[in-house]
Amino acid sequence: MADQDGTAGKLFSLCVFTFVQSKELSETLIQELSQNVTKYGAEVCQPKRDGSLPLNAATHIISNTIDFPQYMEATSMMIPVIKSSWIQASLAKNRQVQIRPHSPDPRMIFSDVVLSCADIPESDKESIIGATMALGGTDSNNLTKLVTHICALSMDHPKCQMAQEKGLRCKIVLPHWFDDCFKLGKRIDDAPYLLPDPEILRAHPGGNIPIPSGQHLQGATSARPDFIPTPVDSEAGARPKLTIFHEKKVMLSSDLSISTRLKDIVKELISGGGGELTDYVDDCDWFVCHYRDGDNYIRAAYAGKHIGNLSWLYHLITHNAWTTPTHRLLHYPIPRNGIPGFKDLRIAVSNYGGEARIYLENLITASGATYTKTMKADNTHLITARSNSEKCDAARDWNISMANHLWIEESYAKCQMQSLTVSKYTHFPQRTNLGEVIGQTMFDVDKLQAMYYPGGPRKPSSASKRKRKTSDRAEEEADADNSADATGRHTRKDFDVMQDDDVEVADQSIEESGGPRPAKRRVTSFATPAREQRHVRAGKENETPSTVSSSSRSAKEKARSRLSGLVDDIALYEKEKKRVLKDGQPWGGKRAADQIEKKHLNRRSVSSPAPPSDQDDEVAAATKRPARKTKLALKQIEARVILTGFKRWVNDKHKEDADRRKLREMGISVVSDGNVCDYLVAPQLVRTVKFLRNLSRGATVVSSSWIETCLDTGEVPPPTDYLLKDKENEQRMGLKLQTSVARAAANKGRLLRGLPIYCTASIKNGTESYKVIAEDNGAQFLVYGPRSGSTIKPTSPDEDPDGPDPVYLLSTANPEEKKLWKKFEDMARQGNMEPRVVASDWLLDVVMKQELSFDKKYLVTNFFNNA
Ligand SMILES: *[C@@H]1O[C@H](CO)[C@@H](O)[C@H](O)[C@H]1NC(C)=O
Ligand SMILES: *[C@@H]1O[C@H](CO)[C@@H](O)[C@H](O)[C@H]1NC(C)=O
Ligand SMILES: *[C@@H]1O[C@H](CO)[C@@H](O)[C@H](O)[C@H]1NC(C)=O
Ligand SMILES: *[C@@H]1O[C@H](CO)[C@@H](O)[C@H](O)[C@H]1NC(C)=O
Ligand SMILES: *[C@@H]1O[C@H](CO)[C@@H](O)[C@H](O)[C@H]1NC(C)=O
Ligand SMILES: *[C@@H]1O[C@H](CO)[C@@H](O)[C@H](O)[C@H]1NC(C)=O
Repeated sequence: MADQDGTAGKLFSLCVFTFVQSKELSETLIQELSQNVTKYGAEVCQPKRDGSLPLNAATHIISNTIDFPQYMEATSMMIPVIKSSWIQASLAKNRQVQIRPHSPDPRMIFSDVVLSCADIPESDKESIIGATMALGGTDSNNLTKLVTHICALSMDHPKCQMAQEKGLRCKIVLPHWFDDCFKLGKRIDDAPYLLPDPEILRAHPGGNIPIPSGQHLQGATSARPDFIPTPVDSEAGARPKLTIFHEKKVMLSSDLSISTRLKDIVKELISGGGGELTDYVDDCDWFVCHYRDGDNYIRAAYAGKHIGNLSWLYHLITHNAWTTPTHRLLHYPIPRNGIPGFKDLRIAVSNYGGEARIYLENLITASGATYTKTMKADNTHLITARSNSEKCDAARDWNISMANHLWIEESYAKCQMQSLTVSKYTHFPQRTNLGEVIGQTMFDVDKLQAMYYPGGPRKPSSASKRKRKTSDRAEEEADADNSADATGRHTRKDFDVMQDDDVEVADQSIEESGGPRPAKRRVTSFATPAREQRHVRAGKENETPSTVSSSSRSAKEKARSRLSGLVDDIALYEKEKKRVLKDGQPWGGKRAADQIEKKHLNRRSVSSPAPPSDQDDEVAAATKRPARKTKLALKQIEARVILTGFKRWVNDKHKEDADRRKLREMGISVVSDGNVCDYLVAPQLVRTVKFLRNLSRGATVVSSSWIETCLDTGEVPPPTDYLLKDKENEQRMGLKLQTSVARAAANKGRLLRGLPIYCTASIKNGTESYKVIAEDNGAQFLVYGPRSGSTIKPTSPDEDPDGPDPVYLLSTANPEEKKLWKKFEDMARQGNMEPRVVASDWLLDVVMKQELSFDKKYLVTNFFNNA
């Protein structure tokens, strides 16, 4: 197999798959997929003898339907359930692709929708985005290539015009399409809703739905409420009848940004399910609002009503199942001014992928802090799942506080900033990605009360007790949740439903809209989700004030909060226990605990390299630290260097060790590959992988004579006096090193942003080094072999007025590779791209110069003839 070079044993190496056989996924296909994923490092776990799935072992469940007995259990354990198409897509892209679009859940009708709103009034916008997200879709503020739908009222908005000018493939639809789909719980054809000439408007020539121009947006909201086309179709059918609202009175607060139109739809859904909307807070069972303040909120809270925000309501509608709004941090109304102390914080996130990252973004924003995609020196905090990544290194350098997600979760849950001196917030088990235990923190209801409705709730009057009867059903269901907890599973099926986009999309959109771009884009959403966590928190559910007296409740709460402090530690401990088991070592009480301890110690002494799935991004930005100019002091590490082409130690391990120690004593640390460095030390301009990669990242390049001088004199002259000068090679390569360094700093690893570069599998010296060089500069690198299918997405010919985009194939001129050229060129042309089959020198030269250019001399046909 051609594609195996360098990728085998990597792509899926942290995955344990289990397959669910069904009509939609045959046994033969399962076998074939199993073989394929095994080649890429995955483990495949067979169902148990009784047919049940090995949920404790699996990290991913591959199923093309949700119709299997353990579906609920799997989702509550946060094991992603994904269609087999995900494997194929990941293999094709050579990275684990985003999980959301591959959900087999038929309710996630918008899972492949990436929405961008144009001239939609603010109030409408949020409700449309909210509804889209609740149905699995993604929101993108900026118009990127990934956007599938622009929601607009007219073609006037710049986004629509840009889409037209650039011939983007996204569709421009009226908001009514989203409304109608939401209402139906089904995805109907968007064709009648497409601008500029939507059929639905023509079909109703009454003309009472004027398409307002951009300036009159405010009027637009009220102009449309009565326009909800009745679905004529039978094929789409209607959303199954909701039972969750049976005999429930729901109040929508006036602080919600919900359009009248959507409100009507919600009303219909609720009344269709036997409930009703009310305008009187005393009457309602459930109160839906945006902020946790205002008379109605306090009144509702005093009366012990269930209070949630729109995300919670959408969740109820989408899942038709009860969930208590205080169980998920993002289902409860937000504090208007954030959590005290968070306002001025700037928080970045590292090592969390997929839904976890989106959840954290939302949490950071809700807490009142600013979420930043990239980390800069002005960040105050880094929330990270592991303590090793380039961002973490930079955080240490920049004195940026690091914490795991428990810190922000618990600060938000307790409505108070938690101190970072609490060790669990800065505990990073060496081999665990804490993304595994995210989303499990619930609100501390006592704290909510103390802060937002002090004194309440009142002792229930007999009247409200009677009232409560009507919500017994919900309560029972909540209790059912409880017992599920007691059996050892935490019920937090999808805190993610209201998340607004996916990291991959987000990252890509930065990339395409010109923002800082992450160097690596691999995303492992919950590659190893939480399993088998012990649940100490069963019983926490019942915070219904009317059923437990205040004092006993608070005693209970206290006991619980003590336990919940432990719960994360326990979860982590359980994880470690699993690791030990997985490593094939015996498990047995204390002995195992000792082993864990020992392992920890051992690991601490050796810095473990990041696993391949480590999805740290914005590396480029993070590693671009200002060069140090300070006179270097003893002992403390003042400079981290990477040496390339250093001759002094060749074949002399002893000397090397002694010299390294000597350097270290002078404050210079020679770091190994893969670590962040300040200086790249080289004797001359060389086109080695190390050199090119470090250059791409804007490292300062210093002459080896600097290190030689240090070793010889025992003193450390300023490295900036030793900037590498190599006139001869500069001339030979036709470049100026300092220009390249400056350009690299400006390019921030985005020199080849989005450029597809293919490479023949059999290329001399292997594909791996080209891959890292290309990817460090933002290119999309793909291996091309005799059996590679077509991986170019055809674009329409008129997409780009500058003519077709180029696509490169790195190749040498050996006969095997020659055979591929024609096929490659055909593929490119079919995709309306211009094929350029070039010698790998093209890539090396471009990266060395840090300037994207092309010359015919690099075409294989020219290059190898001249050589
Ligand atoms: C498995 O891999 C082979 C070889 O790359 C490929 O031809 C085949 O389509 C793959 N099977 C599936 C089901 O993806
Ligand atoms: C619900 O609240 C969370 C924060 O608690 C927020 O992130 C989310 O956007 C809110 N949902 C809606 C639809 O307003
Ligand atoms: C690092 O930050 C902490 C608090 O954020 C501060 O007390 C300390 O002085 C800082 N250290 C340096 C070297 O800037
Ligand atoms: C999105 O667009 C706005 C305005 O055009 C721009 O200022 C912003 O930087 C863009 N955001 C990203 C992430 O590129
Ligand atoms: C320098 O290059 C090596 C790869 O050879 C890499 O491991 C290291 O992280 C690079 N350093 C920087 C600052 O990019
Ligand atoms: C391949 O590797 C050899 C030695 O490892 C090196 O001399 C040669 O320049 C390399 N070729 C290319 C095209 O990088």
